[in-house]
Amino acid sequence: MQTQYEWIATAAFGLEGVVARELDRLGIPAKAENGGARFTGTVEDAMRANLWLRCADRVLLVVGRFEARSFEELFEGVRALPWESFIGVHTRFPVNGKCARSQLMSVRDCQAITKKAIVERLKEKYRVSWFEETDETVSIDVSLHGDIAQLTLDASGTALNRRGYRTWNGEAPLRETLAAALVSLSPWRPGMPLHDPMCGTGTLMIEAAMRQANRAPGLTREFALESWRGMPEGAFRVIREEAKAQFDPSLIEGISGSDIDPQAIELARRHLHQAGLAGRVEFTVADARDCVRTGERGAFLCNPPYGERLSDRRECETLYQQMGQLLRRHPGWTLSAITSHPGFERCFGRRADRKRRFYNGRLECEFMTFGLPAQKKKK
Ligand SMILES: C[S@@+](CC[C@H](N)C(=O)[O-])C[C@H]1O[C@@H](n2cnc3c(N)ncnc32)[C@H](O)[C@@H]1O
Repeated sequence: MQTQYEWIATAAFGLEGVVARELDRLGIPAKAENGGARFTGTVEDAMRANLWLRCADRVLLVVGRFEARSFEELFEGVRALPWESFIGVHTRFPVNGKCARSQLMSVRDCQAITKKAIVERLKEKYRVSWFEETDETVSIDVSLHGDIAQLTLDASGTALNRRGYRTWNGEAPLRETLAAALVSLSPWRPGMPLHDPMCGTGTLMIEAAMRQANRAPGLTREFALESWRGMPEGAFRVIREEAKAQFDPSLIEGISGSDIDPQAIELARRHLHQAGLAGRVEFTVADARDCVRTGERGAFLCNPPYGERLSDRRECETLYQQMGQLLRRHPGWTLSAITSHPGFERCFGRRADRKRRFYNGRLECEFMTFGLPAQKKKK
């Protein structure tokens, strides 16, 4: 029986349930909680989560959780944990920290005490008095929430939204993880046409295409846990090979995007190429106001400008009105859009059939869907 650990797949506000469902679909039962989804599993499960989760930010291994009302309790609690299972004599182990509503308010002191307690533990285990920290890195996080301290190791490394395909950013691009979540929360299902009439650098359509092609979002990148000591390299290789075998770009059909800005379209094509999907999504320069799509059913999905600057507000409101006309020109289609503009529905000309609240960076936004058949309407 392989060792089972506790893990958290961290997620942005509003995406915790989406990530828990993604884990369930991978065959890893998970429970959504504030800030992510918690699951129990082997290191192979964590590798699979890193490779396949589209909407999570990171995968963390929970080394321990305990009550800490004083720095002494924090020190003793940290020293009692089995750090030698993950940290070798030469491992680099930086400690990050965060505190919320805790009596131990100084993050720097919590970090320093955690580091000292781990060093004390390792000195005893390895019988050395000095650690050079020259080898692989294991990043440790100490997080104090109320009186509870939680110690985690970062199993992802670079955040999971960094899939490797987006190297140039256009105007206000969506984070890949949020884009993937909007794709899965939209009424679009593979087999139906999907179009983003304001696609910018293409993130939404590329995430949709990756999903349709069964392309694991982390297929071409590495994860921190792969360089941890004692990891089953062979098993990780098999998991990657299986993911490669599932990737089939020929499954992509009916996904397209357009934007009024030729530079954005150039970037979208470049990103598509870098995702290994060159030519599989049609990106064209066009004004959304002239957009006409064929097909009785289909889905528009977009992240229009928000008009955050007062000078752009009027223009955006006119654009939202034209988006309402776009949907009316396409009976049988749905339109889903994310925006921070509070007057979107008024400008669009009707109430949304479904709404969800998210943060796009620091902006509180609503993700709205219009045009759902009566039986699917749910606020
Ligand atoms: C917030 S950005 C979209 C970012 C995109 N989701 C991404 O990840 O790169 C809004 C986009 O709407 C485009 N846009 C504004 N007005 C337009 C119009 N009338 N027709 C088509 N595109 C328009 C802008 O050029 C810009 O790329």
